[in-house]
Amino acid sequence: MKSAHALNMGAPTPGALSASDPAALLAAVLQANAGTANTRLKQVMDALIRHLHALALEVDLSPAELDQALDFLVRVGQASGPQKNEGILLADILGLATLVQLRGAREALAQGGTEPALVGPFWRANQPVRACGENIALADTPGAPLHVRGRVLSLTGVPLVDARVETWQASPQGLYENQDPHQQDMNLRGVFLTDGQGRFDFHSVRPAGYPVPVDGPCGELLAAQGRGVMRPAHLHFIVVAAGHKVLATQFFDIEDPHAHKDVVFGAVGSLLRRFEPDGRGGFSLDLELRLERGETVLPHCPLP
Ligand code: BEZ
Ligand code: FE
Repeated sequence: MKSAHALNMGAPTPGALSASDPAALLAAVLQANAGTANTRLKQVMDALIRHLHALALEVDLSPAELDQALDFLVRVGQASGPQKNEGILLADILGLATLVQLRGAREALAQGGTEPALVGPFWRANQPVRACGENIALADTPGAPLHVRGRVLSLTGVPLVDARVETWQASPQGLYENQDPHQQDMNLRGVFLTDGQGRFDFHSVRPAGYPVPVDGPCGELLAAQGRGVMRPAHLHFIVVAAGHKVLATQFFDIEDPHAHKDVVFGAVGSLLRRFEPDGRGGFSLDLELRLERGETVLPHCPLP
C-alpha cells in the first residue's frame, strides 16, 4: 500500500490552493490579473472573473455543464461568417446590446436625445449613397409604399447639415436582401445626406416583422427557453454628423403584433411609431433624430 505522502494526501503544501476554499481561488485568479497594464481591461477582467466565479458557485456548475457552455461559445463562433454574426445575435437575445446602448445614451436621453436601438447583425458596409427622394425599394419589390421623411438635429434643435443617414430594412416578406435570393443586391438599403435644414427623405415599402435567425446555437437557446423568436417590423438607422456621437436606432411599427414582444428587447418607448396611412394605400413616417455632441465613433459593421 502506498503511503499518504505518495498519494499526495498529506498535509497541504504551504501556499497551495485548497480545493474547499473558493474564496482563496478567486483571490489567486484576481491576483494573476493584477499586472494587466491596460487599466480598463484590468477593471473589466476583474469584474468578469468575480461574476463568473459567483455564477459557478450560485448554480453549483458541474464540469459537464462547463463543457456544454464552452461548446456553445465555440459553436457561436463557428456559426458566424460573412452572412451572419451569431455573436451579435447572442448579445441581442440576452438584452445586453440594448442595456449597453441605453446606458451609453443616458445623458442624451435626459436632454431629449433620440432613443438608441441595437445595430443588429444585418448592417452592411458600403450601402449605396442615394439622392434624397430616391426609392430604396429596387424594381420588383412588391409592397405598400412608404415615404420616410426626417430631420437630423442637435439636442438644442440646430439642424445638422450634411449628416450621413444610413438605413436598412427587411422586405414585406420579412427578409433582408442578403437572406433572400429573390432580392437584388443592396435592396432596401441606402445612405442619404441631409440638406441645409438637416432634412432627408426617401421612398420604400412597408417592412414586415421577422424571426431572428434560429438555425444556430442561439436558436437552440431560444427554443430551450420557450421564447418567441420574432422582431416587430422596423427600419434601422445609423446617423453620423460631425462633432456628434453616432446614433444607431430603429423605428418600429406599433401595429405589428410583436410590437411589445421584441425577442431582442430593442422596441422601447418612443421608437414605436404609427405608420400613417396616406389615403392612397401607402404610408408615411416622420422622424426627428436628435444627436448628442461628442466624439464620432462608428459601430462595428458586421457584414461586408
Ligand atoms: C435586426 O434588427 O436586424 C436584428 C437584430 C437582432 C437580431 C437579429 C436581427
Ligand atoms: Fe432588423
